[in-house]
Amino acid sequence: MYNQKATTELQIKTEELLKKLSQNSVDKNYLEDLREVIRFHEYRYYILNDPLIADVEFDRLFKALQKLEKEHPELITPDSPTQRVAQGLTKEFPAVQHLVPMLSLDNSYHAEDLYDFDRRVKELTGETNVEYCVEPKFDGGSISLVYENDLLVRGATRGDGVQGDDITVNIRQIRSIPLRAAFSQWGIQQAEIRGEVLMSKENFKKYNEAIMEEGQPPLANPRNAAAGTLRMKDPQEVAKRNLEAFVYHISYVTLRQGRNLPAPLQKHSDSLQLLWDLGFRSPVKEKKVFQGIEEVIRYCEAFEKQRDDLPYEIDGMVIKVNDVLLQEKMGMTSHHPRWAIAFKFKARQATTRLLSVEFQVGRTGAVTPVAKLEPVSLAGVTVSSISLHNEDYIREKDLRIGDMVLIERAGDVIPQIVKSLPEVRQGNEKPVHFPATCPACGSTLYKPEDEAVWRCINLDCPAQAVERIIHFVSKDAMDIRGLGEANVRRFYEAGLLKDIPGVYKLDYEKIAQMEGFGEKSVQNLKAAIEKSKHQPLNRLIYGLGIRYVGETTAKTLAHAVHHIRELAQFSVEQLQQLEDIGPKVAGSIYHFFQNKKNLKLLDELEQCGVSLVNEKSLTTADSGNLNGLTFLFTGTLSTLKRHEAEALVEKHGGKILSSVSAKLNYLVVGDDAGSKLEKAKKLNTVKIITEEEFLKMIENPT
Ligand code: IVH
Repeated sequence: MYNQKATTELQIKTEELLKKLSQNSVDKNYLEDLREVIRFHEYRYYILNDPLIADVEFDRLFKALQKLEKEHPELITPDSPTQRVAQGLTKEFPAVQHLVPMLSLDNSYHAEDLYDFDRRVKELTGETNVEYCVEPKFDGGSISLVYENDLLVRGATRGDGVQGDDITVNIRQIRSIPLRAAFSQWGIQQAEIRGEVLMSKENFKKYNEAIMEEGQPPLANPRNAAAGTLRMKDPQEVAKRNLEAFVYHISYVTLRQGRNLPAPLQKHSDSLQLLWDLGFRSPVKEKKVFQGIEEVIRYCEAFEKQRDDLPYEIDGMVIKVNDVLLQEKMGMTSHHPRWAIAFKFKARQATTRLLSVEFQVGRTGAVTPVAKLEPVSLAGVTVSSISLHNEDYIREKDLRIGDMVLIERAGDVIPQIVKSLPEVRQGNEKPVHFPATCPACGSTLYKPEDEAVWRCINLDCPAQAVERIIHFVSKDAMDIRGLGEANVRRFYEAGLLKDIPGVYKLDYEKIAQMEGFGEKSVQNLKAAIEKSKHQPLNRLIYGLGIRYVGETTAKTLAHAVHHIRELAQFSVEQLQQLEDIGPKVAGSIYHFFQNKKNLKLLDELEQCGVSLVNEKSLTTADSGNLNGLTFLFTGTLSTLKRHEAEALVEKHGGKILSSVSAKLNYLVVGDDAGSKLEKAKKLNTVKIITEEEFLKMIENPT
């Protein structure tokens, strides 16, 4: 899309524009320049995942363009990067006809099915050697895009395959889908492109964390999250969800007069490359072309092993006959093309029976229904119980005791019930009844008007006390190995542990006498508890179990203060100034720190030697070897993973920059370093070092 020369030129243009912006000398004559560099940096960020400028610099360019266009609305173009931004709510998504029906794929699950496929292909084409292109089967929501005269004019859902919903406003929010693509270069006047919209695993995790912090049930998988987001009526909300898109098929083109079908469209793998060159994200790096089915099978099996390392979900591979003339010769059924087949990976879904529903009291008093299931093996683990979140969730899914249910375990997400299967009911299934009293202490349950959750509001409820301790010591909080859920319950029942500070006042002599505890395990426990006293502040904050404060919010809070008590000085308004903290979360944090009991709990922890300060900010202030220095990594490092290297920099007081600029001190270069290295060389001010030299810097400060 952008070769080396264009990249250098655009980078220089960016720097000139940023300079002119700080001198306030950018006027309407720079509109096209601004658009050009913004498109370029969007491409670097969303397609290549290798930005060349810092986010704040990008924002400055974008805001400047928005301002100029506001002053000169007559100069706005439909493909301006600002035109993704939409206002107001969508009333409805009109139905639209696809230019070519959107077919499904035939499925296969075993190597033998692929041998059969190969045999059918050879029979139907009459060829003895067939070239196949193999690529991931993206697991999201399928879309169809129409470009006319190089502009994106329509985006639609699959619908029934013939007609879909026109979701153009939402499609425009997806930054990896170009608003303009130079199809005309190839003589193409109109093109229909097929692809898949995804939510990355990381964004999905963040999204679920956020909705769970709001007290709502999580979504079952990134596919539902992506497909659901595509149908949202608020395009600004769609933009916030950071969807991504891969395109994998050009389904239809009309050519300009006198032009022939472009050569790359004669091979599937070349058309993927063409899409990539036009600025789309297509699976050019992931796809492979093979001459025989054996190699195809090997590649599919090897790819399955990498499945969990990918940043997004795939549910298999797609094998396509590479030669488009042969594809046409083979044709299609009413359901799927005969020239392609999906090779599905090991299922992460299973069906089983809902045996009963139990009710558990959590640390905040919330009573959560938990489904007890006939044990079933799901992607390598046996599942026998799954949270049902709240009463509404059970009603919405119409779950009944005795039902067959479809369950799913998506990646590292905890298993969820996707739906019940009412088709196979036998008539003796029973509705789920919610208890009126707390199953742990018997007090009457209460449901605040605006909430979906029933609560036990007895502060002395034993179930809540135990759950608070379990949460405090858990892996994502203080991470005290050896004091897992079972031991917390045992110690609580034995009267050895009654509240959170009690963790640091355990009577080890008594524990040593308990069954299953030897001298060694007591010592290990003691060591783990000692170590936890110096956990980073965000872990402590998360461990306190403040309502609506998940790991992300805990990090934000820890970042904002040096000592945890400073949080008691924040007003609700001030808390809302912090990233991603809304009124509900702010209110909960505020009340937690106004409550004397909670402040007393902090005092007790401090007396026990638990650190309540942000130790990281202390070390960066005075003892880091890399104090005040800035770093950036490029290429593949040989001993460290990228995130480990970055963590090392921060641990030693240095800072990571997002791009090469005059502010950068060191560029650490691994194998296959890209454009960052080129840029750093040009800058002259950046010291370029190897991984080995970087590690030496940490050991021996200069
Ligand atoms: S090709 C005629 N390639 O899987 C072209 N489909 O289960 C047919 N999908 O409806 C589609 N990744 O939404 C193709 N690399 C890929 C794909 C892919 C995901 C989806 C697509 C299709 C569904 C069938």
